[in-house]
Amino acid sequence: MASPLNTLRFPLHGERLIEASAGTGKTYTIAGLYLRLLLGHGPAIEEGEEAGQPSAHERPLSVTEILVVTFTEAATAELRGRIRARIHEARLAFMGRESTDPLLTQLLLEVEDHPLAARRLLAAERQMDEAAVFTIHGFCQRMLKQNAFESGALFETEFLTDDSQLRLQAVSDYWRTEFYPVDKTPRQLGARALAEPRRPAAGDEQLARQQRAGDTACAGGRDPWPSAIRWPWPASRR
Ligand SMILES: Nc1ncnc2c1ncn2[C@@H]1O[C@H](COP(=O)(O)OP(=O)(O)O)[C@@H](O)[C@H]1O
Ligand SMILES: [Mg+2]
Repeated sequence: MASPLNTLRFPLHGERLIEASAGTGKTYTIAGLYLRLLLGHGPAIEEGEEAGQPSAHERPLSVTEILVVTFTEAATAELRGRIRARIHEARLAFMGRESTDPLLTQLLLEVEDHPLAARRLLAAERQMDEAAVFTIHGFCQRMLKQNAFESGALFETEFLTDDSQLRLQAVSDYWRTEFYPVDKTPRQLGARALAEPRRPAAGDEQLARQQRAGDTACAGGRDPWPSAIRWPWPASRR
């Protein structure tokens, strides 16, 4: 059942869903929940079915045990920066035993051992470069790589958001292998590409060779481009 969110009371176990629109404090809240996971903070839940149960995770977590996933590279960078800044602010608050920030002031009241909290937060600050704050695709790629044997993925893979270079390379390769050896004028080449060759059946090597030479090309036909262009291309590279 939906209920208003209180960052310091939100249960940190089980599956939980927070829904909110842009600019309403999602990133702020995530940084607050992250702090609580590091500190093992979590007073008893006050209302609802789970009333009386602690809202804390079962034990304090380290930076390397928390995964944060978001959509874009930009959001990832912002999130990492905001979590890092929040941990720093909280550590200074626990060291100085005071804060003007309402959330941190409340945390100071509810976390008993301030020196221990400050040590945990310092350790977290030092580990932030290893923090698992990823985009969804970044996380998936990392998992495939870390478990390369089980996933059958190559060790050396690269995630591309722009495949135009690969397309250009494929077109250039095609052009060189298919058109350089053909002893025809550009006009004849154009006619060949527009013609509709019969797609060779598997093993129909002779027809494939004839078509490669352009001998059986016939004019006309519907939608000649896909088959005319694809058929000589090795299946493995399509
Ligand atoms: N509970 C809050 N108390 C103080 N400032 C808040 C609170 N929630 C959000 N903010 C501030 O409001 C702004 C927008 O919040 P943000 O977490 O970036 O929103 P979202 O991630 O949902 O787009 C930020 O500057 C954030 O620090
Ligand atoms: Mg945000």
